[in-house]
Amino acid sequence: MFRRDFIRTTMGAGLAAGLNLAWATASSVAGPAANVKPKYRAGVIGLGWTGLLYDLGRRSGERFDIDDANRPTPLVEIQRRLHAHQHPGDEGLPQSYAEALWQRPEVELVAGADRDRKRLDIFSQRYGIKAVYTDGVEMMQKEKLDVVAICTNTKGRAFLTVKAAELGAKAIVTEKPMCHTLAEADAMVKACADRGIPLCCGAITTTHPSFARAKALANSGAIGKTISIEAGGPNSQHQNWSYFLDSPAAWVVGTGDSVGNREFGGEGVLAAQSGLTVHFRNGAPGVRVTGTKGEIVFERQTLATHGAAWRWWQDIDFVSQLSNDWEPEKGTRRVEMPWPMPQFLYPYAAVYAVDDVLACLEGKLDEPKNSGRRVAVALEVEIAMKESSRQGSKRVDLPLADRSLGLEYAWFR
Ligand SMILES: NC(=O)c1ccc[n+]([C@@H]2O[C@H](COP(=O)([O-])OP(=O)(O)OC[C@H]3O[C@@H](n4cnc5c(N)ncnc54)[C@H](O)[C@@H]3O)[C@@H](O)[C@H]2O)c1
Repeated sequence: MFRRDFIRTTMGAGLAAGLNLAWATASSVAGPAANVKPKYRAGVIGLGWTGLLYDLGRRSGERFDIDDANRPTPLVEIQRRLHAHQHPGDEGLPQSYAEALWQRPEVELVAGADRDRKRLDIFSQRYGIKAVYTDGVEMMQKEKLDVVAICTNTKGRAFLTVKAAELGAKAIVTEKPMCHTLAEADAMVKACADRGIPLCCGAITTTHPSFARAKALANSGAIGKTISIEAGGPNSQHQNWSYFLDSPAAWVVGTGDSVGNREFGGEGVLAAQSGLTVHFRNGAPGVRVTGTKGEIVFERQTLATHGAAWRWWQDIDFVSQLSNDWEPEKGTRRVEMPWPMPQFLYPYAAVYAVDDVLACLEGKLDEPKNSGRRVAVALEVEIAMKESSRQGSKRVDLPLADRSLGLEYAWFR
């Protein structure tokens, strides 16, 4: 049984008394294994759903303004414990960056920042951490953080990322969307690249270990030479395709983007400098990588019907001797192969984004799978496709000269 210490967190003055009472009765959750000495100091900026709350309560759809310092915050379960043995499923792995960092033995979660004091209180109560700040920059200046998670809304994310790099962070994870404009993306990527800082921009499916398996499989020749990539759209918030593209984008053609769409909603094609093409087709799977001798496909929707998210087909030579034939039949057939573990499973949250940047710090990975660099590629492609569609499907060459171009997102982003 979990110990269920619920605490009511709503807006208003009466709230403070409730929080203080809970502070007196609730002890913080147990930390990671005591025998491992943490070597990285970590802090989280933005203690909303992805930063903190997803592991503690049910998200409400109540409307807010992203500049509000007082956010609608429903009931949370301060002492909820997550049990890894419950994975697979939605229970076992942490969804939030605070919890993902808290559970890593080599990391010491030392501080949190948010403009909303209710959320700072929840963070303090859960983790027993008193170093909380309403200003993320002040937190980074005072706390000498090695790992910074930036889970604020999109506005200001680029500023905070560059600041984190300048103030000595060794690894940075941010939520998605990465940023609004190309200039912001450039600044984030450069600030980190100049200092050798691994930057992961969004806890999306691409961060899951099964993607590393898929890329290794494609690079091993298991599908022959890669000849095309397909995806439902450039979708720079949640792109699976740019992880498989190892050549800079050369040009795009887009069509069918509705006027007024914030993000690209049409279809089209991207040609890379290597000549490889990426096809964006409505209804396509998350990603399909086609080779001269096979294909791999990622389709997370199939999980809902108990199907496997990753599938692999390979051309196999066969010889078949039917009893009434004089000559054996020979040929090649495309057959489905068993997917080599790991297979994709939910959830795909912060735990994998954190794992990638830590693996980079340990020299085990050259770049996070959903790195800022790869997300920036997708953002530029998405903007270029919007431009192409707007100009009647004219070819648009990359890189785009106008770095002030950007995307708008839904109100809660
Ligand atoms: N990866 C995913 O699947 C996924 C899922 C949900 C949300 N998101 C993204 O996560 C981001 C955060 O949204 P959320 O859903 O976690 O909830 P949210 O909007 O409640 O959280 C954002 C928090 O950041 C704080 N904040 C904003 N700007 C700040 C600043 N400059 N300094 C200090 N604090 C600041 C807010 O007060 C708020 O508590 C959004 O950009 C959203 O698009 C990603």
